[in-house]
Amino acid sequence: MILRLVAVLFAMCLPAFAFGQGAVGWKTGREAAAIERRIQALLGRMTLAEKIGQLHLSGRGDGFDESQIRSGRMGAVMNFVVPAEIAAVQKAARESRLKIPLIIGLDAVHGFSTYFPLPLGQAATFNPKLIEEAAYWTGREASAAGINWTFAPMVDMSRDPRWGRVLEGAGEDPFYASVVAAARTRGYQRGGVAASVKHFVGYGAGEGGRDYNSTWIPTSQLHDLHLPPFKAAFEAGAMTAMAAFNALNGMPATANKAMLTDLLRGQWRFKGFVTSDFGSITELRLHGIARDDAEAARKALLAGIDMDMMGHVYHKHLAGEVKAGRVPMQALDAAVRRVLRVKFHLGLFERPDVDPAAAPALMQTQAARDVALRAAQESVILLKNAAEILPIKPSVGSVAVIGAMARPEDERVWTDPAGLGRRIVQPLPEALQERLPAGTRVSYAAGVGKACGTEFADRQGAIDLAARSDLVVAMLGEDCEFMGEGASRTDLGLPGVQQALLEALVATGKPVVLVLATGRPLVLSWADRHVAAIVQTFHGGTEGRTAIADVLAGKVNPSGRTPMSFPRSVGQIPVYYDHLPTGRPQQIRQRYESIYMDEKNEPLYPFGFGLSYSRFSYGNARVERVQVPLDGTLEVTVDVTNAGERDGQEVVQLYVRQPVASRSRPVRALKAFEKVQIPAGETRKVRLRVPARELGYHDDAGHYHVEPGAFEVYLGGSSSASVAASFTLIKS
Ligand code: BGC
Repeated sequence: MILRLVAVLFAMCLPAFAFGQGAVGWKTGREAAAIERRIQALLGRMTLAEKIGQLHLSGRGDGFDESQIRSGRMGAVMNFVVPAEIAAVQKAARESRLKIPLIIGLDAVHGFSTYFPLPLGQAATFNPKLIEEAAYWTGREASAAGINWTFAPMVDMSRDPRWGRVLEGAGEDPFYASVVAAARTRGYQRGGVAASVKHFVGYGAGEGGRDYNSTWIPTSQLHDLHLPPFKAAFEAGAMTAMAAFNALNGMPATANKAMLTDLLRGQWRFKGFVTSDFGSITELRLHGIARDDAEAARKALLAGIDMDMMGHVYHKHLAGEVKAGRVPMQALDAAVRRVLRVKFHLGLFERPDVDPAAAPALMQTQAARDVALRAAQESVILLKNAAEILPIKPSVGSVAVIGAMARPEDERVWTDPAGLGRRIVQPLPEALQERLPAGTRVSYAAGVGKACGTEFADRQGAIDLAARSDLVVAMLGEDCEFMGEGASRTDLGLPGVQQALLEALVATGKPVVLVLATGRPLVLSWADRHVAAIVQTFHGGTEGRTAIADVLAGKVNPSGRTPMSFPRSVGQIPVYYDHLPTGRPQQIRQRYESIYMDEKNEPLYPFGFGLSYSRFSYGNARVERVQVPLDGTLEVTVDVTNAGERDGQEVVQLYVRQPVASRSRPVRALKAFEKVQIPAGETRKVRLRVPARELGYHDDAGHYHVEPGAFEVYLGGSSSASVAASFTLIKS
């Protein structure tokens, strides 16, 4: 009996030890109170140098000085991925005078060993549970390597695809981005790593779509558009935050007391710590608000930046500032307290350190790969499917797969995988051959030299292969230096020679299926006119190409939806669906209406759009109560029918509009959605709920108002959904 009990207890403990450290998060009640007492006691024992050490975040690589850990002068490290190295630095911290463990950070953004689609691709799933699982496995693998802090989720709003970092976000809609922010935060922390919600705030709105550029955001828009996903992440328990590089309305985010202290700590009661972004404290000099690093350090700390990431300025200058009385000890203590608080709540003082020998077996487990495959499958967006050319019919005798991206030499990874994991990437031609009938021959030609697509490689060979085949699958897009941080673009066409290759393929007269792997919505106007089908992915990760093959072969019915509008031309940017009406709306497209002379107003593909191999129709939309009190809930039901021949998933979306209010309200705004599986030929009644308190807006002073009055409800499978019902919001 006792033996059985021991065995059960052992089994219960096993996951926690075997897979990193188990879930982390804020503790409450007595536990939280006890932690505050421990912090106070510890603070009382710390020297000035040790306090400043807790605020110093340094990274693996040149100049990393491990002796600073041992002497209590470094509280956090980043970019360590090899478990043995992590164990060694953590051991050094435990050998320091006060034995304060390190917080160990990494950009575990969309995977650690198993890779999931890029965050924008995850957002395309419109499946928050799946997104949470992807974050969970990312956290769990990172935690199994000894990491306890991830620099994610990035929740910056993405309305400008010229900005290379839209791939890290959840797209253009603040309601949806908030749902995703909360899901990712929960997932990471359940997986065992503290989330760092970033970049606070406004980083996604850089002028001209240029990275690091200034942002100008009116207060009402800041509160309605940019802040909600942060708030959602904090409400989901995010333990830390990262400040942004940009200046917000003239004040660099790294020295923005109004945001970091008054709003975040004051109004929102955030208890965790805020780190600077990479070197952004010293950059305050370049922003022109500090004469030297000492002043930069002082301004950042007093504004509310607790930790200095890679700037080394707290380390070098804070002691002098404190001694000179320019930084009160109280302010320093407050920052140290916040760092220690996170460490205590993470359980770092009690946790066993990583066991390097156990780590490799915990990477790319079947369970993680299953989630990666589902996420990749659900992230595929079918943008065009003329004459239902997809899925590939059994009558197709030969398929030419063109494009170096289809057969990657290596998987695209975010951070050094540390030699962990098996890195399984199935090339597209092989995956497709496996899934198509034996009578269909799949051949491959790269056409371009590398996945970057900057130069041809046997262009003629690729074209000849296409001409000899019944169907062409061209896998093209953005890779290498064309996407991500520091990769803003003014031209949103296919990079390099890929457009020329695509045109040559189309010129063969064979139907072309364009499969895209990009980091942002590209301008696809030419492709939309000339290719038979367009399949959009945002780099699907470890299982990405397998998922594409599943969709092309019809094994999976595509269900991804656009998280951002796809512009028709760069000149339309920013183009997003929840814009305000104008006094001169587009009516008959004539001069003096708010239109372009040379382009439509509408995007090529609107937000929330995506085709399926099923056909969904909507009927019987009903508002449960046409009068909704201010403290009540709008409840809408609608019958959604799958009129196609395949089972499929539809993303049922509910938008509302308040046509008349005290200030101009968006033409529509997403307020609820649900992804539902509907078998072929069947109808599902879908019920969507919106608390009335979510129907308001912020004014110029940042105050929130929900105004009674008439509302319209739009229901459908994209932001172009038509009006379905109406209701009136009444005083309670
Ligand atoms: C990015 C952050 C990232 C950090 C550490 C910075 O350049 O803006 O998002 O977490 O580097 O890699």
